[in-house]
Amino acid sequence: MLVSAKEMLVKAKAGKYAVGQFNINNLEWTKAILSTAQELSSPVILGVSEGAGKYMCGYKTVVGMVKGMIEELGITVPVALHLDHGSYEGALKCIEAGFSSVMFDGSHYPIAENVEKTKALVAICNEKGLSIEAEVGAIGGEEDGVVGNGECADPDECKMIADLGVTMLAAGIGNIHGKYPANWPGLSFDTLAAVSEKVGDMPLVLHGGTGIPEDMIKKAISLGVSKINVNTECQLAFQAATRAYIEAGKDLQGKGFDPRKLLAPGTEAIKQTVKEKMQLFGSVGKA
Ligand code: 13P
Repeated sequence: MLVSAKEMLVKAKAGKYAVGQFNINNLEWTKAILSTAQELSSPVILGVSEGAGKYMCGYKTVVGMVKGMIEELGITVPVALHLDHGSYEGALKCIEAGFSSVMFDGSHYPIAENVEKTKALVAICNEKGLSIEAEVGAIGGEEDGVVGNGECADPDECKMIADLGVTMLAAGIGNIHGKYPANWPGLSFDTLAAVSEKVGDMPLVLHGGTGIPEDMIKKAISLGVSKINVNTECQLAFQAATRAYIEAGKDLQGKGFDPRKLLAPGTEAIKQTVKEKMQLFGSVGKA
């Protein structure tokens, strides 16, 4: 069964750990993440970007695949299926398709429009018992072709959006999607502390979880971050393991070309990455 992310994040915030959101792109990814969460007894959030949703043949396909897998693999840990960086229309589609959580990313709108659209979606999500994430201050890097600059959110605007009744809030604190450049100044803990102070118990979300040094992750959790998004790191691990398999010529031996064999090392690499992240975020055993 899919659950809203609310309970797991409230518990995480109170217990000073973070739940990982791992983005999915296909069946192998989903299987690797769900089975690792179960093995480690950790709650988990499966993130689906609009681009990945299209790639997987639409949100209904995603819901069917994830629900089927939860049942067939005997997954009993809490799993939320969450739209990542959704548009207003995308969020409505996911709600209709059966997602248990959505993110509405209105950070590129003027704050008044972000407020108005977030408010409308909060009402729908509340009625259906779904969790909803909002964003203030664009996260930098590239996400489905949209490039942000890694802004630092205005704590007053964060309070304004948090007060609309969202479940969790993504506040830009200099974090970016994808690889961090060598001259990246690091997370702005001053911004995070100021936002945390304004929004109280509201679970905060850290996007761009790939490549942030461990000490910064731990400090961010201590300052109220209770959900951390990871995407690029799983992609890099999958790619490296698949490449190694091919470069070693294993696809040319026996039935090595069989897609089940060809994709197995990449799937294992994702499992390992997810495991390391869950350990770092402190969510192991918290299901
Ligand atoms: P990375 O791709 O940097 O891991 O970020 C993932 C993310 O924030 C998805 O919203």
